[in-house]
Amino acid sequence: MGLELERIVYISRARGDADSLALQVDILATSQRNNARDNLTGALMIHNGQFLQVLEGAAQDLDRLMKRLAADPRHDTVEVLERAPIASRRFSGWAMASVRVTPALEALLASTLDGAWSSDEILDRMQDAAQAA
Ligand SMILES: Cc1cc2nc3c(=O)[nH]c(=O)nc-3n(C[C@H](O)[C@H](O)[C@H](O)COP(=O)(O)O)c2cc1C
Repeated sequence: MGLELERIVYISRARGDADSLALQVDILATSQRNNARDNLTGALMIHNGQFLQVLEGAAQDLDRLMKRLAADPRHDTVEVLERAPIASRRFSGWAMASVRVTPALEALLASTLDGAWSSDEILDRMQDAAQAA
């Protein structure tokens, strides 16, 4: 009776200083606490004032989180790039992985911001980065 898994990928723009370590630590600590409770997993990449986050879990848990995210004044212009059923998690084991940006990921993020969303490639790279960390 497993709940159907879905994945959401979104980008948003930080309203303050996204490079602030205090901000990053706070977001990750809250994410890890709440996502462990809600059986959500995923990864967060922060670069050039942009957030790109992957979230995996049951639809109702994702909906609840998306409502909190939409109301969070630390970012705006939340744009969902993808929401789709998935057969399995890419980030099982990570309530929220923090993915360090590599040159390859930076290029993929730039093309994503230009509207060329290529889900598999960027997710593959983020998964590799999470596993290497
Ligand atoms: C870019 C970004 C990513 C976030 N990711 C998560 C997340 O994965 N899980 C989560 O619970 N909160 C996340 N938050 C924080 C939520 O917007 C919200 O502040 C938080 O869920 C409230 O939790 P609390 O009621 O336990 O304080 C994120 C915030 C930002 C700005």
